[in-house]
Amino acid sequence: MSSTSAGIASIGLQLPPLFMPVTQLAELRGVDPNKYTKGLGCTDIALCPNGHDAATLAVGAAKRALSRWKGSVSDIGLVAVGTESAKDMSRPLSAWVAEELGLSGVIRSYEVKHACYGGTLALRQALEWKWSGAGAGKAALVIASDVALYALGDPGEPTQGAGAVAMIIDEPLVASVSPTSFPFSSPAFDFWRPVGDSFPSVDGQLSLDCYKRAVIECFSALIGDRNARSMLTEYHAHCFHVPFPKMVKKAVLHLGAELGWSLEETEAFYQRKVEGTLEWNQLTGNAYTASLWISVARALVGLKQGTPITAFSYGSGYGAELLELAAGPAAASAAWASDVEKDLSQRKPVDGVGYQRLRGHALAS
Ligand code: CAA
Repeated sequence: MSSTSAGIASIGLQLPPLFMPVTQLAELRGVDPNKYTKGLGCTDIALCPNGHDAATLAVGAAKRALSRWKGSVSDIGLVAVGTESAKDMSRPLSAWVAEELGLSGVIRSYEVKHACYGGTLALRQALEWKWSGAGAGKAALVIASDVALYALGDPGEPTQGAGAVAMIIDEPLVASVSPTSFPFSSPAFDFWRPVGDSFPSVDGQLSLDCYKRAVIECFSALIGDRNARSMLTEYHAHCFHVPFPKMVKKAVLHLGAELGWSLEETEAFYQRKVEGTLEWNQLTGNAYTASLWISVARALVGLKQGTPITAFSYGSGYGAELLELAAGPAAASAAWASDVEKDLSQRKPVDGVGYQRLRGHALAS
């Protein structure tokens, strides 16, 4: 395989073994459940039990990606983990993954941080490492893994979630990725977590505005001087980072207005090209770096080889990038869908009391 044709060879996903419907959280917080379900578009929050963290999820996803790849760990020359759930300020999350997988030797191993954009950056770096020939024939293992938790009672609480997506960069059997991409960044304090703080600080309205501006900037760069209507409908689907499902709809409505589309036209575009990509995200909640890649994994299921999609990555702070992908031959059978089906069918519900206990705030009974 020539290095310039490298793409995503295999995907594995790992979702946590617990979840809570947002309606249970609404009851706990004394909020109208419609605010969470209709207002934010959320359904479930995926939750980790004690002792389960971003490293556990990353290792699970990586094992699954490796299990359906023809190579072995000795063929890997780079392991990069995008996360904002770091376990340590120095030791990269990739070291925990490498330990579990028996990866050591002539391997570049590191963690990438840029809020929810970190997984996409790790993917781009791995692809560019392959495309440049620097990988010298080796494959890369890229993982996006996060546990998203806010302070109890924070407005972000119903958007919590967790999950990991691992991708092996080698032959483009799952998808090819266009070398041209459309980045945009502009420094802001929209969502941040100071060193030593357990939970993020958020300027909610600013974060929504930054996300929407990034969508306009990245899509405008993709569209260029072409006809937006015809070129955007040529893609089978448009995937987005999903902090909460309604954010994606807000961004698409904003894009439609910017392009001069009628509300009806934008709604129809959203239903045809975007809504279906959110199916798994609604059941995981926000998985930060993994959110976009959960959406992409869903969008690729069953696609004919060559079918194009886009992927919009957003990370607070803020940085964004719009990628173009095309389905590979393995998308038609989409073996990775079984990871999600298995995890969703086996996970256990947690009620309000169980949730408080899990968060270390057991209710006094
Ligand atoms: N029935 C139906 N809808 C209701 C309702 C009810 N009873 N009550 C309220 N709503 C609607 C509101 O009208 C609103 O909808 P619109 O925005 O369409 O008007 C929606 O529910 C949410 O209500 P609020 O705006 O009052 O919600 P909030 O202020 O309590 O919290 C939030 C919203 C600020 C986004 C909060 O969830 C939050 O801080 N989330 C974390 C930050 C975030 O996700 N930002 C997104 C961009 S940043 C990013 O992408 C990075 C990342 O992953 C975090």
